Amino acid sequence: MKKNYLEHKYQAYPLIGNPTGIHALSNLNRQLKDVQVYLKRDDVMDIGLGGNKLRKLEYLIQDAISQGADTLLTTGGVQSNHARLTAAAAARAGMHCELVLSQPVPIDTLNYNNNGNILLEQIMGVTVQIIPKGATVQTFLDARCAELIAQGRKPYVMPMGGSNPVGCLGYANCYLEIMEQSQQMNMEFSHILVPNGSSGTHAGLLAGQKFAAQAGPEIRSYAVLADEAQTKRTTLEKTIATANLLGYTEMIHDTEVFVNDAYRGEGYGIPTSSMWSALRLLAQTEGIFLDPVYSGKAFAGMLGDIEQQKFPKGSNILFIMTGGTAGLFAYQDLVG
Ligand SMILES: Cc1ncc(COP(=O)(O)O)c(C=O)c1O
Repeated sequence: MKKNYLEHKYQAYPLIGNPTGIHALSNLNRQLKDVQVYLKRDDVMDIGLGGNKLRKLEYLIQDAISQGADTLLTTGGVQSNHARLTAAAAARAGMHCELVLSQPVPIDTLNYNNNGNILLEQIMGVTVQIIPKGATVQTFLDARCAELIAQGRKPYVMPMGGSNPVGCLGYANCYLEIMEQSQQMNMEFSHILVPNGSSGTHAGLLAGQKFAAQAGPEIRSYAVLADEAQTKRTTLEKTIATANLLGYTEMIHDTEVFVNDAYRGEGYGIPTSSMWSALRLLAQTEGIFLDPVYSGKAFAGMLGDIEQQKFPKGSNILFIMTGGTAGLFAYQDLVG
């Protein structure tokens, strides 16, 4: 079973199973110059088709249970992986789940609105409310929360992406898992790379590194939602808040937060040609499917940075495959 390295401070509700594997991308690496890429399979977990959000949900659900909650209420876009995994985690924990979904992506196909994550949520039987385009999510969340309380339920509200400091603990723990795995493999990773949406994954990893109090791999992310400056600010804020939860109170500087938005394209959820190329390349060399919104754009970013020699020769790069493949089926009409 996966360890909770933070257990002296925070309990986690088990959703993931074993530590996720780390494997060299041997076929792809033969095509790359001067670096070796390893994949950490955070898309392969026990329930809900896996993904980074389950790591956050382990701490969030434990918190919900300790507060006596019986209903998980959260939000995201129509094809939110966090929403799908919240529904799966609620099923595992025997809780009720409600999703308030917004429409931030300018795609209106039948597949986008009905396939992928939405289909899986229907199968799990959770209540989904899709709010009008441009509406303020918080207003609908607050209203639904009040209704649930009036019905005698005890809702636990989680933010978009589950990326509050409690949720971010999931990736602080993941950092410590990576350190133990790299010791077992006798391998020093030079970099850890992740996609960056609501910034909890990057922030959690960096907070974990601070908590570990030892120099480690450089953590870099590829922004897929906001631009570089905004993403950096959010990541730093969340890193500090998460590190504080872990009792780390020294200064953390923005120069320690490495974010690149050059592969975001026109915006969140809008496919790019480099994303489709990266997705095909990994599928055709390793039989592994990236997703079009997060891991595909981040992997394209990594390949671009390797091409531009932004990693020193001999780097051992760990790319965390954060999941999201279910969302691929929503993009059938847009495959490029
Ligand atoms: C598959 C996948 N990868 C990466 C991310 C980004 O993680 P974060 O929101 O913690 O930045 C998300 C967020 O929804 C996701 O679903």
